[in-house]
Amino acid sequence: MKKRAGAPAPNDIFSDNHRWGDLDDWNRTALALHAEGGIHRIEREGFRPFWAVIDHAAVLEVERDPGLFTNGPEPVLATNAQIEGRQAVIKSLIHMDAPDHGKYRKVIADWFKPRTVGRLEPRLDELSAKAIAKLESARGEIDFAVEVALPYPLEVILAILGLPESDYPRMLMLTQQLFGQEDPDLQRGEVSPEVQAQVIGDFNAYFSQLTASRRAESTDDLASAIANGEIDGRTLPDLETMGLYIIAATAGHDTTSSAMAGGMQALIEHPDQLAKLQSAPDELMVNAVEEMLRWTAPVRHFMRTAQADTEILGQEIAEGEWVYLSYKAANLDPNVFDDPLRFDIERDNAARQISFGYGVHFCLGAQLARLELRNLFAHVLPRLATVELAGDPATMKTTFVGGHKSLPIRYSLT
Ligand code: HEM
Repeated sequence: MKKRAGAPAPNDIFSDNHRWGDLDDWNRTALALHAEGGIHRIEREGFRPFWAVIDHAAVLEVERDPGLFTNGPEPVLATNAQIEGRQAVIKSLIHMDAPDHGKYRKVIADWFKPRTVGRLEPRLDELSAKAIAKLESARGEIDFAVEVALPYPLEVILAILGLPESDYPRMLMLTQQLFGQEDPDLQRGEVSPEVQAQVIGDFNAYFSQLTASRRAESTDDLASAIANGEIDGRTLPDLETMGLYIIAATAGHDTTSSAMAGGMQALIEHPDQLAKLQSAPDELMVNAVEEMLRWTAPVRHFMRTAQADTEILGQEIAEGEWVYLSYKAANLDPNVFDDPLRFDIERDNAARQISFGYGVHFCLGAQLARLELRNLFAHVLPRLATVELAGDPATMKTTFVGGHKSLPIRYSLT
């Protein structure tokens, strides 16, 4: 049978953004793909062919060899048209390889060390209290994704960067547009290179001004560390400075809020697990959050490019070929996770989830994201006497960072 132009391959749950709108179906298909093998060739019109790696061990193996499998030149799945039409390329950590990557990562890494992140605990307590205040005033029905999960991580990032709360709406809009561009609800009109350039232009204008002010007067925040950062004794070039701001401002937002909303939905849909967690939050919270991360895998993938002929799981990979690392499917690998479609907060190896990636690019914000999730659920769950879905949740139809657009819940408080 002739393939329809642009039609996805039957095994393509990766590049087709519509498949990401129905996560139950996505999960079931991923599990079926595991039965066929750990690596799959995906050919779809409009995209360069790529190898989708879904096997947990193989994803780690690829990440363990960043010299052979580089992030550059294209670390995120994009159509040929997007790649060819791209106007401005702002290089951030995820676009970089050795030796630049390590040097730039060092400029901001201190701000994400456990001790530094631990200092944010009082701020997290405040934000969790704010979430509860919203639940109290909403009187029994709220969109948990919009009212709780979206604002929380964004306010944390603003606090680390040292930005005022008045900049909140602008950052919210821009991060959603950068990450959710394929989703019709979040677009600025058509998805096009011009639109992307416009979003990046807005970021540029905002952060150029910020750099100037922090260079004039340094304050104790991440924005000052970036503005005054040096590599090999020189201030960072403008585009790379922008890249660090953008990754710091965006990487921790939709990602963490997706895990929060997805975690809440999982608890609602598994009332036995919710009851268990409510009965012993101190003992179970750490593992429950790992299971929520395994379950939600908000960063769906990153790409690598093979720098030499090689093989993955016995499959030959040619130099220059594109490799898709499926964190979401790897978290459902039945060789690692027993009955992977079961949400189980006491799963004994939930911490083997690889939602934060692995190796030299391992998520800088992993510790922070975990603290945020633990803090929110530790505050909110004891107050929930009852909770159920009050409508259909809606998830973003994006191939990169995805999560909830809406999670309507009905609840009563103790
Ligand atoms: C649940 C929430 C989060 C998830 C699932 C997540 C996931 C990821 C993944 C998969 C990567 C790439 C890892 C790899 O290539 O091996 C990454 C990189 C990164 N993440 Fe996160 N992330 C989350 C939250 C955060 C937060 C809160 C921040 C900071 C505010 C953050 C900052 C970063 C940065 C800076 C990088 C680039 C690291 C590099 O390339 O060296 N992330 N994250």
